[in-house]
Amino acid sequence: MKQYFITGTDTEVGKTYVTCQLLNAAQRASLCAIGYKPIAAGCELINGEWVNEDALNIQKASSKIRVRKATNDVDGLMADSENIKSGQTLSLNIKSGQTLPLCQINPIALKPAIAPHIAALEEDVTLSFEKIVQGLDLLRTYQPDLLLMEGAGGWRLPLTVGDEYTPTYYLSDVVKSLKMDVILVVGMRLGCLNHALLTAEAIRADGLTIRGWVANDVTGNMTRYQENLYSLKAMLPEPLLAEIPYQSEPNEKALFAAIEQIR
Ligand SMILES: Nc1ncnc2c1ncn2[C@@H]1O[C@H](COP(=O)(O)OP(=O)(O)OP(=O)(O)O)[C@@H](O)[C@H]1O
Ligand SMILES: [Mg+2]
Repeated sequence: MKQYFITGTDTEVGKTYVTCQLLNAAQRASLCAIGYKPIAAGCELINGEWVNEDALNIQKASSKIRVRKATNDVDGLMADSENIKSGQTLSLNIKSGQTLPLCQINPIALKPAIAPHIAALEEDVTLSFEKIVQGLDLLRTYQPDLLLMEGAGGWRLPLTVGDEYTPTYYLSDVVKSLKMDVILVVGMRLGCLNHALLTAEAIRADGLTIRGWVANDVTGNMTRYQENLYSLKAMLPEPLLAEIPYQSEPNEKALFAAIEQIR
């Protein structure tokens, strides 16, 4: 199983868009691929469930559940985070072939579309390390070939705060402790060179590997797009996994090549 953390040069740069394209491409390459969005801010209450658009898109793009073998080998059994801890698989309510439940794709759903640590304070929710890791562990029990975990915002996303809203802990600390390789989505727009370089420097300084980066043409109207792309290629030593054009049919060949590199 390969797993990656998907970060971006900012919020709204196409992390979800790229994650979904990679998940779809992986499935076309016959891989079981699922996405994870542990923290989402900006949710709507629908039928008693807090629903986030990113999570919905990731749900649609993810493979259907297959339960090959968890701690016991019975098709149709599912491990939840409680019984993973006790080494058991008990829950009988989800079978192979079903869509991944939204609450598993997005365990921490915050109502206001604001910085998650501030939303969490307002909603009296704890953005706990354990919850993020347990959610990941749960998805790992499905034994996908590829698991993509989308961050929120950019690399240094505050999770917890002390006095005066001083951040004490970041989502990057979770990725660091999980030692996950990172895929960096660069939203191709003015300012992206600085954002890409600083983000890449921060990831490397955290001791993590950038498996590659994706140039996402998020606006379709960046002036001097090609020149900026050349500069990024010259400055980032990590491989360009794919170029994602603005609003077009998925570039099958480029995506397939990207999947070959990360599978
Ligand atoms: N290549 C693209 N072509 C067309 N639209 C795109 C492209 N990439 C992103 N978008 C659109 O731009 C918006 C922002 O993209 P997306 O939601 O994937 O960003 P994000 O980085 O995941 O944001 P967040 O930080 O909120 O999670 C969305 O409406 C998405 O559909
Ligand atoms: Mg997103």
